[in-house]
Amino acid sequence: MKIAIANDHGGIELKKTLVTYFEEQGIPYTDFGVSTSDSVDYPGYAKTVCKEVLADDDTLGILCCGTGIGMSIAANKVKGIRAAVVGDVFSAQATREHNHSNVLCLGERVTGPGLAVLITETWLKATPLDGRHQNRVDQLED
Ligand code: RB5
Repeated sequence: MKIAIANDHGGIELKKTLVTYFEEQGIPYTDFGVSTSDSVDYPGYAKTVCKEVLADDDTLGILCCGTGIGMSIAANKVKGIRAAVVGDVFSAQATREHNHSNVLCLGERVTGPGLAVLITETWLKATPLDGRHQNRVDQLED
């Protein structure tokens, strides 16, 4: 499993926290920026990560902005992407298992760093469930 991660200026500190976590855990990742606090437009960063996710079955995406919402709206415009804004651990597990989310969106101005790491860890460890959940995901993709 590999991670493609990106952020806008509203999510830079959270992105740094997650990158530190990936390095500590030996989780391979590619950081698509941004790395300065200059104001940028989040849709392009979302698109870059979504392309990486669609290009490789082993890649999951993580997008950080102020709320996680702008990134999720942008990511969900891309066919094949199921992006979820998550602010709690229960939803982190459920959205991976039930919705087969392939992009996790987090809000630095909403979710503290400790919880964000726990959410990320939970999301990465959860496994998409088959059966009725796969049927529903198939309907989403139609
Ligand atoms: C940037 O100010 C902020 O609007 C952005 O990071 C994000 O929260 C948008 O949804």
